[in-house]
This record gives sequence, C-alpha cells and structure tokens, in this order.
Amino acid sequence: MKIVKFKEINSTNEYAKKAYQSLENNTLIIASHQTAGRGRLGRTWIDSDSNNALFSILVKEKINPVNISNITMLMATSILKVLNNIVPGFLIKWPNDIYYQDKKIVGILAESKINNNNVEYLIVGVGINVNQEIFDETINATSLKIITNKKFIIDELIIKIATTFTKDLTNYFRGSITYLEIVRNNFYLKNKNVTFTYNNEEKSGKVVGIDNNGGILIKENTIVNSYQTGEMFLKK
Ligand code: BTN
Repeated sequence: MKIVKFKEINSTNEYAKKAYQSLENNTLIIASHQTAGRGRLGRTWIDSDSNNALFSILVKEKINPVNISNITMLMATSILKVLNNIVPGFLIKWPNDIYYQDKKIVGILAESKINNNNVEYLIVGVGINVNQEIFDETINATSLKIITNKKFIIDELIIKIATTFTKDLTNYFRGSITYLEIVRNNFYLKNKNVTFTYNNEEKSGKVVGIDNNGGILIKENTIVNSYQTGEMFLKK
C-alpha cells in the first residue's frame, strides 16, 4: 500500500481528488492536521492538531456506482472491528458513523467521480477522534483517550484500519456480504425512534433493521420502508 503523509493539508479527500490520476489504487493519504477538513452534508470536520486520525483511501477499481454507499459502510465495519478489539462497545450509526455510548467517535465521508456509469475514483475519507481530550459540548463527541484513558499511536491505528479495509474490500468484491452482519450486530439505531428528511419531507418512524442492500428499514405507522441514504436523528 502506497502511503502519502502530510503534516498539514487542506483536506486529505481534496488532495486525493486533485491527484487521483497520478496515485495508484489503494493509496493511503494521511494528515496530522487539516485546515479545511470536510464532513458530510457540507459540514466541516475540525481536528485538534496531531491528536486525531485523518486519512483517505483512494479506490480506483471497477465499481458499480450503486455500490458506493455499501463500500463506505464496509469501511465503517473495518474500523469497528479494529476499535472493538481495543475495547468492546462501539456501534455503527447507520450509514457510517461510529458511536460509543451515545457519542460520536468516527465520521466517514466518501467522494467519487462517475463517468458513463463507471466510478473513476472513490475516496473514502475517515476522521477518528483518538488522543483528543476536550470537545466543544455542542458536538457530542468522544475519543479513544477519553474512553480508555490511554494514548494511541495514530499512524499504527490508521495502518491497521487501512489493511483491514483493503482485505475486507477484496472479500466484498468476491461477493462477501458479511459486513452487513457486522452492521446488524452492532446497530446503534436498532429499535430507536428517529426523524429524518426524505424528498424534503420530515418523516419519523422506528428503526427495525437493515435490508440486504444495506438500506435502513423504518416502520412508519404500519408500513416498513427502506432508505438507502440519509441522516437519522434520535427522536427526543
Ligand atoms: C462526517 O461525519 O461528517 C464525516 C467526516 C469525515 C472527516 C474525514 S477527515 C479525513 C478526510 N478528509 C476530509 O476532509 N474529511 C475526511
């Protein structure tokens, strides 16, 4: 696996996007600090310098665009395996956040370029709170340091995750769907009441499962519907 490392960069996803033509499949891009870290849904991802894992993996394989969200979810399961080996209790908040006791510790942002129904590149960007000890109260976050009271060697953790993901992705391309079992067995939203937006409409329901396409199953009144993307908020 090729590794590109920066002390500081705007965003590892942005770098991968600009340089993808000259980078090979599976390149791992790591930064100690990002000046313009991106989050999902146009949000920013703020890091505390050198305390967190910030990386992207560039995937340049033949992928059907419909599989992008599942590969992103696969990354969440690769990370979950590594984290649950350190200490159990991490859960996946569908589609691809990781939580520990109701606080977020991992965020994933996938970005891709599609040409004639072919994926030219898929960039899977990951932010993990590792050694950071203090968070703004408004963001409901935690870190490995807060959970375990230990400090971690960030690069070691990243390499472990990247290697796990590469293996898991190979198995995925061979047809394995065991990652869905991992999502189902470590399902933060299971049986919870959620609200979400779909086609500009505010909806709510009870989460009842994950279907075989990786969609979330939500019971709205008496009907169960499946959703492929979106963000779920716990109903207060
Ligand atoms: C989210 O939960 O909103 C996703 C956060 C993703 C953050 C990571 S940090 C490394 C990579 N580069 C970015 O600019 N964003 C992702």
